[in-house]
Amino acid sequence: MEANIVLLPGDGIGPEIIQQGQRILAAVAQRFGHTFQFESHLIGGIAIDQTGDPLPDATVTACRNAAAVLLGAVGGPKWDDPTAKVRPEQGLLKIRKELQLFANLRPIQTFPELVDASPLKREIVDGTDILFFRELTGGVYFGESGRSTSDGVESAYASMVYSVPEVERIVRLAAVAARGRNNRLTSVDKANVLEPSRLWRQVAQHVMSEEFPDVQYDVVLVDAMAMHLISRPRDFDVVVTGNLFGDILTDEASMLPGSLGMLPSASMGSDGPGLFEPIHGSAPDIAGKGIANPLATILAAAMLLRHSLGLEDEAKAIEAAVRAVLADGLRTADIAGGSPSIGTEEMGTAVLEKLQA
Ligand code: NAI
Ligand code: MG
Repeated sequence: MEANIVLLPGDGIGPEIIQQGQRILAAVAQRFGHTFQFESHLIGGIAIDQTGDPLPDATVTACRNAAAVLLGAVGGPKWDDPTAKVRPEQGLLKIRKELQLFANLRPIQTFPELVDASPLKREIVDGTDILFFRELTGGVYFGESGRSTSDGVESAYASMVYSVPEVERIVRLAAVAARGRNNRLTSVDKANVLEPSRLWRQVAQHVMSEEFPDVQYDVVLVDAMAMHLISRPRDFDVVVTGNLFGDILTDEASMLPGSLGMLPSASMGSDGPGLFEPIHGSAPDIAGKGIANPLATILAAAMLLRHSLGLEDEAKAIEAAVRAVLADGLRTADIAGGSPSIGTEEMGTAVLEKLQA
């Protein structure tokens, strides 16, 4: 396969971890006989410094024409001036919008080699493997909102709105992903109270019974889900939910593995390129020191191969290489727990060697 991959290193540790992600993708191409072309573009603070724009047009055009995009992170104290008109995060929000990325995918997986990093007991989290689909462009974050004053009392409102097509398209994406895993999908809502949740439940039910009768499907209320995630996280496979509930539940779930530097995520649309990135930020406190953990970015590269290029075997090869490196006891400082650690590039090299073995 030939594919054009855009790299957006961004700020802080972004360039260091993207460099490792690129090495791994290049090694996969070599091992499996693909041709990947890489092109780097500006986003975030570095783009503001060089062009005055957190998302220059050249970046948008390149992303639109790419098969997929691998992003590091944006932001840092240098651009934190609250009076500034342009901010690094605007670049991220705008690229998601330009590419119409309405689904945020977050795999939550505990690694047996690292399970002691979890704040929960080993017997509860060990073996957790959940893939969240959070709706990203609708719901209460994008509904009409404002303030009003009546009889001297000020109030504020924000409305939660979901349309049938918005629910259909994300449920379909999640159901397709479930077929590639354990064939189980859970939809999370608040249908006992909220009208948009009742629509969500009705549409999801319809899509599942008409188009995915082979996928085991159930629904859970969001408050119950918040409890299940920490009492029996192993019981879930693919989970689909709206923007607000997904924001909160995915942050809750990201604590299960106990290691920020290990978690990738993706934003996808119906067609066109997906955007793949680590969930962590630009870590300005460790930028330039060569000690950042590149594994979240390397696992994001695996997601890129799986979800944008359809290369499942290649994705699995990367994930197996990461597990093998952890099994060898290799750790960057953030996951070393005080034991001896290796740097960003050494970790990349270790994964590369497993891939080539
Ligand atoms: P952060 O995720 O950058 O860092 C939190 C802590 O985790 C820090 O101590 C950092 O050193 C550590 N850490 C993060 N990633 C690591 C890695 N790969 N290896 C080892 N240690 C790692 O979050 P923080 O400090 O709240 O934000 C820093 C900057 O990043 C801010 O400007 C923020 O706006 C931005 N940010 C950007 C995101 C993005 O581009 N998607 C997401 C979150 C924050
Ligand atoms: Mg959040």
